[in-house]
Amino acid sequence: MKVFVSGSIAENGLALLKANGVMVNQWTNKRQITADELIENCKQNDALVSVGPNKINADFLKTCSHLKVIALHSVGFDQVDLQAAKQFNIQIGNTPGVLSGATADVAFLLMLAVSRKAFYLHQKIINGQWQSYEPTPELGIELNGKVLGIFGLGKIGLALAKKCIGAYNMPVIYHNRNRNEEAEKEIGAQWVPFKELLNQSDVLSVHTALTPETKNKFNIDAFKQMKSSSIFINTARGAIHNEPDLIDALETGLIWGAGLDVTNPEPMNAHSPLLSMENVAVLPHIGSATQETRSLMAELVAKNIIAGLNGEKLPYLVI
Ligand code: DGY
Repeated sequence: MKVFVSGSIAENGLALLKANGVMVNQWTNKRQITADELIENCKQNDALVSVGPNKINADFLKTCSHLKVIALHSVGFDQVDLQAAKQFNIQIGNTPGVLSGATADVAFLLMLAVSRKAFYLHQKIINGQWQSYEPTPELGIELNGKVLGIFGLGKIGLALAKKCIGAYNMPVIYHNRNRNEEAEKEIGAQWVPFKELLNQSDVLSVHTALTPETKNKFNIDAFKQMKSSSIFINTARGAIHNEPDLIDALETGLIWGAGLDVTNPEPMNAHSPLLSMENVAVLPHIGSATQETRSLMAELVAKNIIAGLNGEKLPYLVI
């Protein structure tokens, strides 16, 4: 049995595949594989480990309907047409749970960096603009006791909430389609309607999946309802916010700052005004990028492939 791995994953995942008799064919080029190249390679293999933003759409799934299993090297599966996967009887797996802590760390990092203008002030040193110590006009804001609003309180949101409670005693409100009663009990999080989440949050952090319902959810209408002192954080998917509207909201002072680990598009335009704003911090989609987490992700991916190739139900099954 052969698997095509469309990018680099941690060695332990590849070793596990090989130890289970799976032949590994890997895309080793530095650039992202194109859609045509992905199809060509998948034609020679029985399974796919999809690394990066490959579109697993209906056309791809139809052309590659011989694949027994597709293991996503991500928890998110917005890039997959699940209906089509079902139609062609291809199991889809992902990597849930293992990246919650690392991604919550990045949300926390961005929140703190924005609140103290850290990326902007770092850039000033690089630009030779640190002339002397002055009671700077570029003052930050403190987070102690501020209200944390979570849009999409699941594992990652909960991990962030716990960090914020521990570090800054932040009360937590959230908005989900369905209430997260476990989190309510565990950390005293309070469900609020979306409008109240916007009105009341001092820091509003997005942790939901990208779906037709959440796409473009944070647009100018939403930003208008947020506090002018608030910080918007997105570590989920760039398409959940409207980037021109976010720029507008920051430029006109509708909100105070923003921290993004995901942008729209990705990679981001290096000339985006977001990159030179005082109260903005941007990272290149590194939520799960730690040695420990990537190693766990590679293990889950390998287990999914091995199960799928053996005709078994995937241990980490999306559909
Ligand atoms: C995920 O796991 O969904 C990360 O955002 C990487 O795509």
